[in-house]
Amino acid sequence: MKIIAITGASSGIGAATALRLAASGAAVVLGARREDRLADLAGRITDAGGQVAWSRTDVRRRDDLTALVGLAQERFGRLDVLVANAGVATVAPVDDLGVDDWEDMIDVNIKGFVYGVAAALPVFRAQGSGHFVTVVSTSGLRIVPGQVVYAGTKNAVRTMSEGLRQEMGPAIRVTAVSPGVTDTDFVPAAATGWKSIAMEADAIARAVAFAIDQPADVDVNEIVVRPTAQG
Ligand SMILES: NC(=O)c1ccc[n+]([C@@H]2O[C@H](COP(=O)([O-])OP(=O)(O)OC[C@H]3O[C@@H](n4cnc5c(N)ncnc54)[C@H](OP(=O)(O)O)[C@@H]3O)[C@@H](O)[C@H]2O)c1
Repeated sequence: MKIIAITGASSGIGAATALRLAASGAAVVLGARREDRLADLAGRITDAGGQVAWSRTDVRRRDDLTALVGLAQERFGRLDVLVANAGVATVAPVDDLGVDDWEDMIDVNIKGFVYGVAAALPVFRAQGSGHFVTVVSTSGLRIVPGQVVYAGTKNAVRTMSEGLRQEMGPAIRVTAVSPGVTDTDFVPAAATGWKSIAMEADAIARAVAFAIDQPADVDVNEIVVRPTAQG
């Protein structure tokens, strides 16, 4: 049984990934800030016969990531995979100077990732195995106006993911998954008109499961999943 911690598990892609992985027999350890959502999701997983633990986690706080990894060890004895999925976006022109939003994207999307690495890597090294799965974005592949800082944060993490892969050696796997437009609460989809082309969150959950399910000596480094209608 794989023990898999997921940040941003309270909604959208993170919740869909938790449900899919738990249904396939993994024990999932859920982190996010909205405790009511985590408790509801954990209840659904338990009712379906799955194994789950959860902890209020703000990925902007290094201690919270350390605690989430500790919870996995305490409840299930190890951690096999960290899915760094928590993320925020504001779509706005740079001329708006939305510096508070820029800082939030940097804190959640970039620092949330590196704090997760700091928390899980000692555990992975001690075990002699581990897997970092990171949710980045097609916003970093096809750069468009309005997403300057968001795309920058996602490509910072894409770069770190590839560097991490090279440094980790054969025992630790590293995967970056780039979703295209996905039907979640992520951006006010009605406002952008994206909703009409969005794919279901489980499309990304399936990609994450695919990477995790490979044999231990096979590392799926990058996966890009877009709705067919996305340009
Ligand atoms: N939807 C898309 O079209 C799309 C496309 C490309 C990439 N992505 C990426 O997919 C990931 C998941 O987003 P989603 O689409 O599933 O949107 P979502 O439903 O809004 O989920 C975002 C998740 O991130 C969590 N989160 C936000 N700030 C956090 C913090 N400070 N600490 C811990 N958790 C935090 C939220 O939980 P709490 O609010 O409960 O903390 C929530 O669970 C993000 O990294 C996003 O960049 C999404």
